[in-house]
Amino acid sequence: MPDVPIRAVIFDLDGVLTDTAEFHYRAWQELADAEGLPFDRQANEALRGVSRADSLRLVLAGREVDEATFARMMAEKNERYVELLADMSPDDLLPGALELVEACRDRGLKLAIGSSSKNAPMVLDALEITDRFDAIADGSTVEVAKPAPDLFLAAARSLDVEPATCAVVEDAEAGVDAALAAGMLAVGIGPAERVGHAHLRYPSTADVDLETILARGA
Ligand code: BG6
Ligand code: MG
Repeated sequence: MPDVPIRAVIFDLDGVLTDTAEFHYRAWQELADAEGLPFDRQANEALRGVSRADSLRLVLAGREVDEATFARMMAEKNERYVELLADMSPDDLLPGALELVEACRDRGLKLAIGSSSKNAPMVLDALEITDRFDAIADGSTVEVAKPAPDLFLAAARSLDVEPATCAVVEDAEAGVDAALAAGMLAVGIGPAERVGHAHLRYPSTADVDLETILARGA
């Protein structure tokens, strides 16, 4: 990790700014039940931060389906997920999320979203925080999903900053992998078993200390 000043913060969305994981889980569980696929909360843990298509591959766990069936299953899962999001509002921001975003803005940092979700723009609108970000990279921005660095590199390009000057706030193992692969400062949210490979780790978004992050990059 080069010692360069942090100029930008890239936020993952699901699990960092809002907790949509339960909705993703319920939508996958309903699909799995309907299709007779074994699935439970523990299996769902492996899906955190993973794109819709890669998640379905994990849910299928080796069961072969044709292309049309694969597309139909993805559509059904997403339809249910979107239904579950219907009542989302600013009340669904995680504790400390808005405060952290505001603190970053007050420090003059550029801000982006780097989310694997194609629903990210809709979720940001429902949370009423779209206008706080200078760039949004989501599940439609790049071909290759996390753990590849592509999404975060695209966010840095949109912000017109060098990757080494970016900090990434992530709750998923795949997301921390992606931040490290992008050469960025990785800030993990959650238990060490999941994000212990990040440069810095906090149990929750509310615990994140921006000054420590900025000092790490200085
Ligand atoms: C990530 C979630 O943010 O987005 C994953 O952590 C999800 O659980 C992925 O699969 C893709 O989301 P979507 O909304 O495009 O299906
Ligand atoms: Mg996440």
